[in-house]
Amino acid sequence: MSETYRILVTGGAGYIGSHVVHYLVESGHRVIVLDNLSLGRKENLPPDAELVTGDVLNDRDLEKVFEKGIDVVFHFAAWKAAGESMTKPDKYGRNNICGSINLLNACLTYDVKNFVFSSSAAVYGDPQYLPVDESHPLKPVNYYGYTKLAIEENLKWYSQLKGIRYAALRYFNATGYDIKGRVKGKEKNPANLSPVVMETIAGVRDEMQVFGNDYDTPDGTCIRDYIHVNDLAAAHAKAMDYLLEKKQNLVVNLGTGKGHTVLEVIKAAQRVSGKKVNYRITGRRAGDPPELVASCDLAYKLLGWKAKYSDLETIFGSMLPVYL
Ligand code: WQD
Repeated sequence: MSETYRILVTGGAGYIGSHVVHYLVESGHRVIVLDNLSLGRKENLPPDAELVTGDVLNDRDLEKVFEKGIDVVFHFAAWKAAGESMTKPDKYGRNNICGSINLLNACLTYDVKNFVFSSSAAVYGDPQYLPVDESHPLKPVNYYGYTKLAIEENLKWYSQLKGIRYAALRYFNATGYDIKGRVKGKEKNPANLSPVVMETIAGVRDEMQVFGNDYDTPDGTCIRDYIHVNDLAAAHAKAMDYLLEKKQNLVVNLGTGKGHTVLEVIKAAQRVSGKKVNYRITGRRAGDPPELVASCDLAYKLLGWKAKYSDLETIFGSMLPVYL
């Protein structure tokens, strides 16, 4: 699509949001970022993106950005630590669910019809079959995953009742950093595997834990579908084009269809960095399914999208300059 749009990106200074902002700005769109900088970093943003420091929970902040005239909303602003969500449902419910409803109501007020939503494979819960496709039962096993499902359900109602068109993009395991090196802001206190591996290589951590090696997998450690954040960014732009051209809703998985074990990930990081990863095998982490891999045929069929940068060597090659 050659047209340019005025795009609001909430949480656009964050890890995934900022990669999407770079992609949209580079595609010639006018991007306005609303971010409270609780997790996001200003330095993640390109100079041509306009940052409004504010919060989706603050009606005045929403007025400020919507009054500029918005064609499309990309919504990333959310807390995303599944483990933390089980001890702080108040924090996750208010920010993720109430924040999204606030944002949707602003879309109604300002007649903004196109909404791209950062959803998650966490809406599926424990896989009943593999690879997981979009028809898989939706039974989240953590409150974070529930918040994502609750927002998807509200998108369905707002679409049916008020004509909002939405794309819900269900990420599997997002990883990596910008291939072009434009995003350097490291995540603060990461819990996900690849940043933990990189912090261990960089000496930020003396040692990392491998949560269990007694699963029914080739080397006993869990299998996940790792998707590079640049691949995610391209998919978001294609999803926007789909909404604007087809004027239909879209719910798709974003993954590679290929899984890797924890030890395979660690070995790849050692190969790429030439450094050893100090790890200790410990007990299983509660809530970890042995395997979670996406079926991503639908994203290819509807968007013509497939992952290009999501092999482990490219992933860790892109993380090295950020961590070392
Ligand atoms: C991956 C594997 C761990 C850290 C989570 C969220 C999900 C989504 C992606 C947002 C598991 C193992 C990890 C460590 C380890 N987030 N591991 N040692 O749990 O698959 O998914 O992030 O959408 O909603 O639940 O990702 O990176 O935490 O774990 O052994 O220090 O690595 O046990 O098998 P996960 P993860």
